[in-house]
Amino acid sequence: MSKEQSSPKAESGARLGVLVVDDEEAITESLALTLGSEYPVYTAQSGVEGLEILDREEVALIICDQVMPGMTGVEFFEKVVERYPRIVRIMLTGYADMQSLVRAVNSGQIYRYIAKPWEPDDLRIDVRRAMETYRLMGENVRLAADLAEANERLRAENLFLRDEVKNQYAFSEIIGNSPAMQRVFQLMSKVAETDATVLITGETGTGKDLVARAIHYAGARKRARFVAQNCAALPDTLLESELFGHLRGAFTGANSDKKGLFQTADGGSIFLDEIGETEASMQTRLLRVLQDGEVRSLGSSENRNVDVRVLAATNRNLADDVKEGRFREDLYYRLRVVEVALPPLRERREDIPELAHHFLEGANLRMRRELEGFTQSAMAVLVAYTWPGNVRELANEIERVVALAGDESRVTVEMLSDWVQGAAETAELELADAGPISDWDLNRSVDRLKRRLIVESVREVGSKTGAADRLGIPRQSLQKMMKRLQISDEEVGTG
Ligand SMILES: Nc1ncnc2c1ncn2[C@@H]1O[C@H](COP(=O)(O)OP(=O)(O)OP(=O)(O)O)[C@@H](O)[C@H]1O
Ligand SMILES: [Mg+2]
Repeated sequence: MSKEQSSPKAESGARLGVLVVDDEEAITESLALTLGSEYPVYTAQSGVEGLEILDREEVALIICDQVMPGMTGVEFFEKVVERYPRIVRIMLTGYADMQSLVRAVNSGQIYRYIAKPWEPDDLRIDVRRAMETYRLMGENVRLAADLAEANERLRAENLFLRDEVKNQYAFSEIIGNSPAMQRVFQLMSKVAETDATVLITGETGTGKDLVARAIHYAGARKRARFVAQNCAALPDTLLESELFGHLRGAFTGANSDKKGLFQTADGGSIFLDEIGETEASMQTRLLRVLQDGEVRSLGSSENRNVDVRVLAATNRNLADDVKEGRFREDLYYRLRVVEVALPPLRERREDIPELAHHFLEGANLRMRRELEGFTQSAMAVLVAYTWPGNVRELANEIERVVALAGDESRVTVEMLSDWVQGAAETAELELADAGPISDWDLNRSVDRLKRRLIVESVREVGSKTGAADRLGIPRQSLQKMMKRLQISDEEVGTG
């Protein structure tokens, strides 16, 4: 066998050597003879001498005698592991020094042992395997490093992409992975590119403000002003002068000219919050702006053209107000060119954990706390509660919890408000169906819960595949369960 063929290469290309340590010179010599044609062999008569060689030479494998005066083989290997953990270690044992051998094997200090006397051919095979192990370990280390680097790169890329997506929609602050919110985002990104008037509807605290801003900042008008006016905050006369401005002397107390918000927002967007609270005359004036794009200051006879995109919001059911004559029908349709309807939080409970963590992070920062998260049962309670005040109520709840927290590391059920905790009990009662529970009852209750979950999911997602995905079960299992629980396609609306 030629030297080149069999010589394992180090990363550097240098040939890696074998170190042989034995106090008996006859043994080191014969090992050097057996292996010398394939590898550079270094010999040492003691552990101390061996360590000196390791400091100087590139060694992949050590063959060491256990019984030596001074440092024993095991003691020598302990030092080697500390300094050169990757070097493969083989123990040579002249006679059954079983105890220390077993200890060395068990503590992972040696790769294998060879009994004296040895068969030269067997020894060569062992050594070749050991060298291969060394090479593979090196490769592993390199691969692991490559992998870690690739992971890191991916992570950075991911963050970058996520940022890109966020910037693209400017919806970064709005949390919502639920299908319902994803549909909202899609609609928002579509309308953001247009100048269409948008009516944002939803219960209190569902994020209407947030959405209005996001639509403005995601659109072409983002560099111009976004001005917001809460229509419920002022009596209509004052609201008029706020929105349209007035000339000096237009009414008692109008001591100077005042620019209206429509003018301030020229080129940008105006957000008319709680539009449902306006009265008839105000509604008429707003209709005029929307129809003609013109505003007239109080006390002025001149119309002024403004280029303003109108975003409006309400937590009222405007359609009902129209029916009952409280809101102008023509204005309603003008406003509702596009309607973004924000679902209440209880209809997108899957968003609750992320929202809760988001608010916890914010509250931690503000109040210099370090609550790490929620216990499982606390999170279950948060998810079970109905949140009539929606996201705002959740934000306030978390804020309160953090403010009142002691040295807890996580938010527990006990830290939550009584009424929120109460929700969990109701949920449990519902599940257990009260009364004494037999096995049969339990099964029935579980089935009822399963049934409800499945029906709700399929209805909401709109397909069995999607629902199965959301519930984290294979589609076939969902199908089977539906059959057993006698849920028909008609019932879930997929038939
Ligand atoms: N999806 C969301 N992700 C993160 N924060 C949200 C989300 N929705 C709402 N919030 C936060 O909840 C609070 C209430 O939201 P917002 O003021 O937009 O609600 P609203 O619908 O305008 O309520 P109201 O009808 O009472 O005016 C705000 O602090 C807002 O930042
Ligand atoms: Mg609001």
